Amino acid sequence: MTGSPLGREIDRVDGPLKVTGNAPYAADYRPEGLLHGYLVQATVGRGTVRGMDVSRAEAAPGVLAVFTPFRSLPLSSPQPGHSGENYSALQDTAVRFRGQIIGLVVAETFEQARDAAALVTADYTITPSRTSLAAASPGVSQGVLQKLAPGVPSIEAALAASPVTVSTTVSQHAQHHIAMEPHATTAVWVDDQLTVYCGAQAPQRAAATIAARLGVDRAKVRLICRHTGGGFGQRSPVWNEALLCAAAARVLKRPVKLVLSREQVFTAIGHRGAVRQTIRLGAEADGRLLALSHDSDGELPAAGGWQMMPGRDTSAVAYRTPNIRIDQRLVTLDTPPTWSMRAPAEAPGMFALETAMDELAVRTGVDPVELRLRNYASADPIESRPFSSKHLDECYRLGAQRSGWHRRQARPRSRTDGDWLIGLGMASAIYPAWRQAASARARFRDDGMVAIASATSDIGTGARTMLAAVGADELGLPVSSIEAEVGDSALPPGGVGAYGSSVTTSTVPAVQAACRAAVTALVKAAVDNPKSPFAGLDPATVRYRRGRIEAGGRATDFRSLLRTMGMPSVEALGSTGPAAGADQYRFHCFGAHFCEVRVHRLTGEPRVNRFTSVFDVGRVVNAKAARGQLVGSIIWGIGHALLEADPIEPDGRFAAANLADYLVPVHADTPEIDVHWLDRPDPHISEFGARGLGEIGLVSAAAAIGNAVFNATGIRVHDLPITLDKLL
Ligand code: MOS
Repeated sequence: MTGSPLGREIDRVDGPLKVTGNAPYAADYRPEGLLHGYLVQATVGRGTVRGMDVSRAEAAPGVLAVFTPFRSLPLSSPQPGHSGENYSALQDTAVRFRGQIIGLVVAETFEQARDAAALVTADYTITPSRTSLAAASPGVSQGVLQKLAPGVPSIEAALAASPVTVSTTVSQHAQHHIAMEPHATTAVWVDDQLTVYCGAQAPQRAAATIAARLGVDRAKVRLICRHTGGGFGQRSPVWNEALLCAAAARVLKRPVKLVLSREQVFTAIGHRGAVRQTIRLGAEADGRLLALSHDSDGELPAAGGWQMMPGRDTSAVAYRTPNIRIDQRLVTLDTPPTWSMRAPAEAPGMFALETAMDELAVRTGVDPVELRLRNYASADPIESRPFSSKHLDECYRLGAQRSGWHRRQARPRSRTDGDWLIGLGMASAIYPAWRQAASARARFRDDGMVAIASATSDIGTGARTMLAAVGADELGLPVSSIEAEVGDSALPPGGVGAYGSSVTTSTVPAVQAACRAAVTALVKAAVDNPKSPFAGLDPATVRYRRGRIEAGGRATDFRSLLRTMGMPSVEALGSTGPAAGADQYRFHCFGAHFCEVRVHRLTGEPRVNRFTSVFDVGRVVNAKAARGQLVGSIIWGIGHALLEADPIEPDGRFAAANLADYLVPVHADTPEIDVHWLDRPDPHISEFGARGLGEIGLVSAAAAIGNAVFNATGIRVHDLPITLDKLL
């Protein structure tokens, strides 16, 4: 091996397992005596289950049990203050939303369970559903973030005194995570020990939740998610389906597997809530901001859910302005639960802000890149805390250059190509960087491998490869000499949740600490163990270098040393805290998107032609994985802008709860995507300097597309997605 792997293109260490179908996911486990479950869901939007007829289902072939609110499975209620689903399934007869679980059929085979579930009938008392976000807005304020210049009485006064103002309201419907792996659980009890195979973003937290809700000791529950086919937020909590599966296995004294159909995932698992936002900007004639107001009304289901705060990490930090007010409100609706979904508040929030900034560019006649440079912030406008590291200006310049921004004509409908109108648009992205306390274990083994373990999860991002690469770098070994282990709650405590783009930021320091501690432990063993060639030496004279131990003119590799000493392994834990400057700095990632769209003059069809994005995300571990994350996020942005929406009907039914009606980008929607990053270490977040890049790519990608569509057509679409009917 020559030099460190860090920053290079590193192949996935689990790539061969995945592409050969040998990577086990939750539904791939087939323990002895396995039973299969199938859910029954409410078919009304709100009300009460008066009664259910399960007689035909119970008599169907292979059926062992039909659990309902009238023959329940014991589950305790969620903890107060818990922000997921706020009820336990089958514990009462209330119907909170259409699609709520009202039954679980368990049979010998999946087909038998599914067929029997179709035979279950329910009688309801129906109550009218509250489903319209617009009708129920404004919602309840979650607190106002505000800063006004001395002598300015209100944001209204600041806006009124501004020479130029822009007011724009944008809205978007529910969106869904659509992980490649549908939700699935395999629950196995051996005596009072429960093992749950279930995709999870935070294995240890999920195991703790399952233990609490089932009323068993935390030490008796192990959650295994060696491979997880997509997280995106929906696998950070534990949903009722997984809890019921484990509870049924306990009662029936046999393992139970519960695999949701693609359609069931749309309602049984939380979605990104619908949200309406209004941005008002006040500016000087040259575009310098004097006032910024951001109001949001987000969907909050009566059944519980994630509380979207779209202004907090977007408008509250993105630009310099003397007057600012953010009000984030939540609107209670009878919809399925909401949950955080990739760039959960930032993608909607920055769509609103960056659309308004484009409108301000149009109003003032200032170039959109120049407008952003004129309002460049080196500290956040509310608390005046400086950013730990910010090179967004470089992103703008490089992105403008690479995308050919100089070719843009400010006047809409200036460029055509046959029947296609061509437009260029840009937007700026921001996403919080977050370093959690983390732990990892490094173990030198007598087979010549080093095992690096952390109880985090690899949701497809390449976290396992990141562990291996950082271990390889730290120990001076090839990546192939490292065995990385994640996705098991039984690994050492302190594994971080795979959310908030924080795994790399948080875990790299822990892996480095673990490797350093393991080297110290190896040296100590080498001087302490009587069979060691280094026995009795002063440990300060013993040196570890690239897998070898050297002292007193002797050298041996760790494999031979361990064998000589008769020790199968030597290991150590590394634990690290949050960033040292956590209260001194604002930690954020930045980016600049530039895109070219074409819109058909006659049909209104919008297409994305080209996309160029430049990011400032700190230092990068794996160039290949980083590109995959950023390109993937931008493709999500194409979905956000042009395709994804699930409006809810007045009866509480999603209009598009399947992959035929709910559209996500496919290859034909995806242009060439040119992604760059500056690779400047953040000196304040950690020694390594990674700030995380899982979500930043999605932020503002939709705004760049919308701004390009305006440049092409002169039409500003405020309600996403931008479909052809809105461009005619
Ligand atoms: Mo992600 S929405 O931070 O799981």
